Amino acid sequence: MIPVARPLIGAEENNAIREVLESGMLAAGERVKKFEEKFAQRVRATEAIATSSGTTALQALLFSLELGSGDRVLTTPFTFIATTNSILGTGARPVFSDIEHRTFNLDPEKAEEILARDSSIKAILLVHLYGLPCNMADFEYLAKKYEVDLLEDAAQAHDARFAEKPVGALGRAGIFSFYPTKNMTTGEGGMVVTSDEVLAKKIRLFINHGASERYYHKQIGFNYRMTEMAGAMGLIQLNRLTEFLASRKANAEFFADKLGMVPEVEIPHVPPQHSHAYNLYTLRCQRRDELQEYLKDRDIGTGIHYPRGLHQQPYYREIGLGEYSLPVTEKASEEVLSIPVHPGLTEEDLEKIAENIQKFYETRR
Ligand SMILES: Cc1ncc(COP(=O)(O)O)c(C=O)c1O
Repeated sequence: MIPVARPLIGAEENNAIREVLESGMLAAGERVKKFEEKFAQRVRATEAIATSSGTTALQALLFSLELGSGDRVLTTPFTFIATTNSILGTGARPVFSDIEHRTFNLDPEKAEEILARDSSIKAILLVHLYGLPCNMADFEYLAKKYEVDLLEDAAQAHDARFAEKPVGALGRAGIFSFYPTKNMTTGEGGMVVTSDEVLAKKIRLFINHGASERYYHKQIGFNYRMTEMAGAMGLIQLNRLTEFLASRKANAEFFADKLGMVPEVEIPHVPPQHSHAYNLYTLRCQRRDELQEYLKDRDIGTGIHYPRGLHQQPYYREIGLGEYSLPVTEKASEEVLSIPVHPGLTEEDLEKIAENIQKFYETRR
């Protein structure tokens, strides 16, 4: 089976983790600190705070912005639920705005309609879905005009760029995930990035039980810290990120070449100024479920990101977030299919994936 995602882990990661284990210093130490410094440089932020996952990074960020009951956060209904559960976790409510047909990201025009009539919105939480940046120029303009914080969920977008600038810290703050399906991994792990030093201090307290020194607790907090093993692995994977990304881009180009002319398929659209990080290579395609079965029978793994909008999730309906009309999201959820694009693919794998998609449509027109 060709998996839809697979991390690339080699001798360097093995050695780095073994060194940590042999040192006996397993919890937040020098490696986590160094990983934070290098990651901050990479996204051109002054601060990076390592966490135990992308979800805890989101929670630490949103809590530290002092969002709470009565506040609302404008975001996308077409994302992984961690984005919006983290908003709910603060006591605030997500407000869903529909996406663009071609990019699957939040549509700035629709977002503005909502911002113009809802003054309880305190922040926009963008998601750079599949690794494609949102239109940052438009959202920076909206954030300024409506005086709301601009935040980025860049869990899927390591090294994605907008107008040559890496995403993550283009707004007030952002987060990344290092889950094994992401562009780089630490097993489980996350990072908050910001150049707001006051905010960074609060986040550091929050992820460490609110303690400014041992057993001296200044605020509420929890243990959301990254382990030293994860930090050691993160340093190695960060060094390999450029090479990983080049390989993802080359694979994406291969598919664009082979699938761009298949009339039943739309390949990812990359607008000017956007540089895609191809965490996922997601097609919009006709007879999606049939194609997925066809590929599965030929040992090609695929994924549906995501099979329903968040407003269609049973829990969200239960808590009163089901009453939205989001036709672009709903249509996308019926048509998207992610095919493997990760750096572990061989030329043979790439040929096999493209040929089978072509064959499926040729034989079933
Ligand atoms: C858009 C998005 N946000 C948040 C997360 C949460 O990250 P994690 O799985 O590291 O908690 C993910 C990851 O799966 C994600 O894709």
